[in-house]
Amino acid sequence: MAKKNESLGKTLFVVIALCLVCAIIVSGAAVGLKPIQQKNAALDMQRNVLDAAGLLEPSTDVVAVFNERVETKLINLNTLEVVDQANGEDAANYDPIAAANKPEWSTQLEKANDTAGIGTRENVTKVYFINGEQGDLETLVLYIRGYGLWGTMYGLISLQPDLNTVRSVNFYEHSETPGLGGEIQNPKWVAQWQGKEIYGDNNAEVEFDVMKSPKQENHDVDALSGATLTSNGVDNLMAYWFSDKAYGPLLDKIRKGELNNG
Ligand SMILES: Cc1cc2nc3c(=O)[nH]c(=O)nc-3n(C[C@H](O)[C@H](O)[C@H](O)COP(=O)(O)O)c2cc1C
Repeated sequence: MAKKNESLGKTLFVVIALCLVCAIIVSGAAVGLKPIQQKNAALDMQRNVLDAAGLLEPSTDVVAVFNERVETKLINLNTLEVVDQANGEDAANYDPIAAANKPEWSTQLEKANDTAGIGTRENVTKVYFINGEQGDLETLVLYIRGYGLWGTMYGLISLQPDLNTVRSVNFYEHSETPGLGGEIQNPKWVAQWQGKEIYGDNNAEVEFDVMKSPKQENHDVDALSGATLTSNGVDNLMAYWFSDKAYGPLLDKIRKGELNNG
């Protein structure tokens, strides 16, 4: 015969009560930790930006350097206007990649133009203007992304004040194979990018290529060996983002002094 405390009703009560308590703890933790997660994600992106700009040393105080040197602007790529808010967020909190997934905040790309394989492009992008000692523009940092072999590769690229010469690049998130396509994060490979010119004469056409046996010393980066598909993905995403369908017109406007770092 079952003892008093082993009845079906009591067992069910304990099981349900335990489930409820666990559910409350888990959801409470998820809600309670969200601000910390968001703060860490923002800090991580600030670190990525400084890394892309070549300003990250092990001893760097990321928040202090970011706040002192970096001006973050939201710019509508369709109208080339600076905006205060997009997708309900200000410049500090706006996520261009999240916006690219929302039909009302993005533009569907025609297949022929979508060499990066991203499908949709955010209408409003986030641009980091990094100022020099005299308050002049020292580096511009832009988001780039495109499909590799296994998934989308997310990066930030930094340009010198001519808005043509690459300072550095940082592919901060990807799903390429470690040791093969994952070498896009290898500092030795990344170092090759420094000083490469994206555009040819008069900033008219993208001349930058990622290719085996580079032909133009000033424009080309050597492809990763054993990772041709990833390398092609990087080549294709650069062709898209610096074309007149993405950053081309914006860079022209900044070069002409019609949009500045102030
Ligand atoms: C398990 C596995 C993972 C691979 N990962 C990548 C990768 O991340 N990027 C890439 O371009 N190729 C990758 N490849 C190789 C491609 O299939 C292809 O062989 C390669 O891109 C050819 O490059 P290569 O001409 O430089 O040898 C992988 C292959 C295997 C079997």
